[in-house]
Amino acid sequence: MAEAPYGTFAAVVLAAGRGTRFRSKHVRSKVLFPIAGVPMLEHILQTLHGMTPQQIILVVNEDVQAEISEHYGNIYETVVQEAQLGTGDALATAMPAVSDEVDNVLVLPGDVPLVTESALRDVLYASSSGDAALLTFTPPELRGYGRIKTEEGFVTGIVEEVDADAVELKIKEVNSGIYAIKRQWVDTALDRARTEFGTDNRKGEYYLTDIVNFLRTRAVFYEPAQDLMGINDRAQLDDAENAIQQRLLVKHARSGVTFVRGNTSYIEFNVRIGRDTTILPGTVLRGETVIGEDCEIGPMAYIEKSRLGDGCKVFCSRLVEVKAEEGVTIGPYANLRPGSYLEETVKIGNFVELKKSTIGAGSKISHLSYIGDAKVGNDTNIGAGTITCNYDGFTKHRTIIGDGVFIGSNNTLVAPIEIGDGAYTAAGSTLTKDVPADALGVGRSRQDNKEGYAAKLRGKKSKKPESGDETGETQGEGK
Ligand code: UD1
Ligand code: CA
Repeated sequence: MAEAPYGTFAAVVLAAGRGTRFRSKHVRSKVLFPIAGVPMLEHILQTLHGMTPQQIILVVNEDVQAEISEHYGNIYETVVQEAQLGTGDALATAMPAVSDEVDNVLVLPGDVPLVTESALRDVLYASSSGDAALLTFTPPELRGYGRIKTEEGFVTGIVEEVDADAVELKIKEVNSGIYAIKRQWVDTALDRARTEFGTDNRKGEYYLTDIVNFLRTRAVFYEPAQDLMGINDRAQLDDAENAIQQRLLVKHARSGVTFVRGNTSYIEFNVRIGRDTTILPGTVLRGETVIGEDCEIGPMAYIEKSRLGDGCKVFCSRLVEVKAEEGVTIGPYANLRPGSYLEETVKIGNFVELKKSTIGAGSKISHLSYIGDAKVGNDTNIGAGTITCNYDGFTKHRTIIGDGVFIGSNNTLVAPIEIGDGAYTAAGSTLTKDVPADALGVGRSRQDNKEGYAAKLRGKKSKKPESGDETGETQGEGK
């Protein structure tokens, strides 16, 4: 592999903090909170991957180590920081794991998910003209950031907000927490910061910021400020979500997707959308969803972990773990649950619920039905109000419906049951037995008309009631 022009580097991501400002009841690292459906940390890791670091080392606390390795397996090296003694201590904990071979150590806080590859390249390049480099910026809201003091482009000090005096608080250039430090100088700088500064500050922590006193550190001022935003609470988490959504929208739009009022939709990080597809307002696309080309999705579609072929339409419907082939139309108001597989040009209409069912090519379920644990063949029509009774209170049973079948309206199919190819079933049937191919299944009582009975009943009812007794006499006339 060709060596990057900024030399080799190991990335150390500091993610052991307790994230107390997230005010969560659960033991959970804030870096695992999702943005666009994937952990905050994942955004940083994806950006790093684009740059081929020699190593990626995650500094974590004991409580979240399990959660992190559950999420990522062991693709990343993790180092446990036993006690959260500060960012300086966090980097010191990681250093024994960092190879001596790399040119630079790139240090990133786990809570800067918007950082871009271009910002990281800038800081790595800049470290070659000193011992280290630091990304600085001017955020719209200075609160919470360390203030930067510089002289001729080099950092002469960083003052944490809680330690700053009135003059320092007015400084508008702040610390992003992202440093590139030459490998050979990291350990001594950390040692000196520990012995000479210790925890003598308002937070009583080992500040990583103190290392700049022992390194010639270039200040690399970066814009746009948004890219370096630190996420310390859930209001900032929402800001980051908005920023990432905007980026994803631009990415999809530039690759040929049309959005109508795109900022009303929410699209997760791993979603893929084909060219010439239109996303209408209020659409939510989640998980590893793949949408084909020339589709029309929305308004108000909720699609999670699903795959749709080309030319599909989904209007006001919910799909979870659904697979649909080309030209399928869904909705309005369909609820397609996991395991629904729709072959080419299937039509699912309003108020239809599907679960663990395969619907063959060209078949239609247009209105008001529940189809669960079923296999429906090709070119079959399921009438309005058809219910598969798949559950007897103990186990689930299958319904098999063949090709070219016509299921009449308001049928109750008591599973297990099989309806053969080309069969018809009468409207209003409750079917408990198989219907052979090409047969007509009728499962309802025969209609019986009593001639003249209605007129007779009317005559009887319209007679004057006995005085003082009017109770119940008009009941049932349906006025
Ligand atoms: C830190 C910087 C501040 C900078 C800001 C940028 C210090 C002392 N302050 O402040 O100058 O402007 O980031 O966003 O460095 N962490 C550990 N172990 C610890 C403490 C923290 O791993 O013992 C991790 C956290 O999980 C977090 C990162 O380090 O990802 C930064 O910690 P945080 O508490 O968010 O620092 P800030 O107060 O934001
Ligand atoms: Ca922070």
